[in-house]
Amino acid sequence: MVFALSFLVLLSPAVSCSTAYEAEMPVLIEKNGRYALLVDGEPFFMFGGQSANSSTWPKMLPDVWNTIESMHANTLEIPIYWEQFEPEPGKYDYSIIQLLLDQARERDVRLVLLWFATWKNGSNHYMPEWMKKDPRKYPNIVGKDGQPVDSPSPHATAAMEADAKAFANFMAYLKVADPQHTVILVQVQNEPGTWGSVRDFSPLAQQLFEQHVPEVLLQTPVLEQLNIPAGAKGTWEEVFGRDADEYFHAWSVARYIEYVAAAGKAVNPLPMFVNAALRDPLTNPPATHYESGGPTDNVIPIWKAAAPSIDFVAPDIYLRGDETVLKVIDLYSRPDNALMVPETGDHVKYLYKVIEKGIGYAPFGIDSRWPQAVNGGRAVNDLSDPLFQEYKLLVPMAGKLAQWGFEGRIQSVVEPESGDPVNRIDLGNWEAVIRFGLGHRLDLHQDPQPENRTGKIMFIKLSENEFMAVGTGCRITFNPIRENEGKAWQYLKVTEGYYHNGEFQMIRILNGDETDWGGPYFSQKPTLLHIKLVTRE
Ligand code: DGJ
Repeated sequence: MVFALSFLVLLSPAVSCSTAYEAEMPVLIEKNGRYALLVDGEPFFMFGGQSANSSTWPKMLPDVWNTIESMHANTLEIPIYWEQFEPEPGKYDYSIIQLLLDQARERDVRLVLLWFATWKNGSNHYMPEWMKKDPRKYPNIVGKDGQPVDSPSPHATAAMEADAKAFANFMAYLKVADPQHTVILVQVQNEPGTWGSVRDFSPLAQQLFEQHVPEVLLQTPVLEQLNIPAGAKGTWEEVFGRDADEYFHAWSVARYIEYVAAAGKAVNPLPMFVNAALRDPLTNPPATHYESGGPTDNVIPIWKAAAPSIDFVAPDIYLRGDETVLKVIDLYSRPDNALMVPETGDHVKYLYKVIEKGIGYAPFGIDSRWPQAVNGGRAVNDLSDPLFQEYKLLVPMAGKLAQWGFEGRIQSVVEPESGDPVNRIDLGNWEAVIRFGLGHRLDLHQDPQPENRTGKIMFIKLSENEFMAVGTGCRITFNPIRENEGKAWQYLKVTEGYYHNGEFQMIRILNGDETDWGGPYFSQKPTLLHIKLVTRE
């Protein structure tokens, strides 16, 4: 065990800059409302996987790494547990962090560390034992009926200070132990908020609730986003009416997390985010129906105002259905928020949409979700799982995809669950026409089950007549439009390939049956085509 009283006191210029190799700090950049995460100074798309909750233990890690290898992922998201990190007040155990750093570097995989501390899915279950034994000092929420709720109070100053101190120590350790920035992002808490009560109704919370809304929330742009007339002021109930309880809780949770995040950022300014347990984005349900206080779509403006040290809020997408998922993707890819999906299930239908609009993607619970990825303690590298196939093709071009997304060159569509299977994408002087379905030559058929309609395609516009296309379950052709309107045209060259070390490698040129019968066809195996078109005149 590596114990130290406080790593902060050990931090001095002499130790913090002592290594030969110091890489550029990961940083989020924004242009025209689009984001890129720079890793080692280059755009990086995170094709990740998140471990199960109880896997950050030395004996569990081999299977986690084997699964990452089988998946072809470039990043592991994995928790750091406060209860394990600070087993006694002020005594810190850095051993698991160092082990993760060492093992990630051996495999050339990046890390996103998840600080499981005050909140884990709305509860305090990762607080150290010494805190759980002192509920008066580290209280939970009191419900409206006066009953205890299994969720820490955001008004507990002692807990907030303890969390901030521990988090700052964790970040200070990373600053010294990770000059090469194996760790690219840090998640602060996990799905914070409260299940079972819209807010804290303890006497202290009630007293705060009856005070005036803080100035920063009364700024016109914030009020506008919350559909409140400019100039409103007064108590939470006066300003926000029936949303007052939830907004007060969101503000309180976000302010607490801001305090913790700011303490960590002061010693090590890695990009930080908070993940959200979502609400249904289509029906505006009451906050009793979801985890109140977390960064759900309706309170993003409150989180932005309350927690400037948090670089983005991120949706954990377990909801299903095209309309719902595409809406979530839209709601979290805002000019003031980078889209990153830190948790999702194993379906990959919306992966290209996230690549088009975001910076990263990770299915949850990889080591329990795919036990077949490990056999006899070794990674199985040739699994035909749809996600693994996608990662195998896309990870070697992750840098290119991040760059193209940042430049706004990517457009994608998914196979509709119902209605017309033909979709169109405007590519300037060409319109891509996409017919979804599987089959042979011209007679494509759609699966009768809407949930099995998993086709998808993304186009990357390289220049006026030159595109990359990655897709599954569809056939494509093109229409000449605008400057090309009415002109005869043909394929100049269609090359199937893949990326290796950042360079396109040719497999074959598609021609004859492979392009004549209605255009190039994408089977269920993800395929990358480099397409050049030409008009004849
Ligand atoms: C969302 C949480 O963020 C994860 O840690 C995990 O608990 C999953 N739900 C469900 O397994």
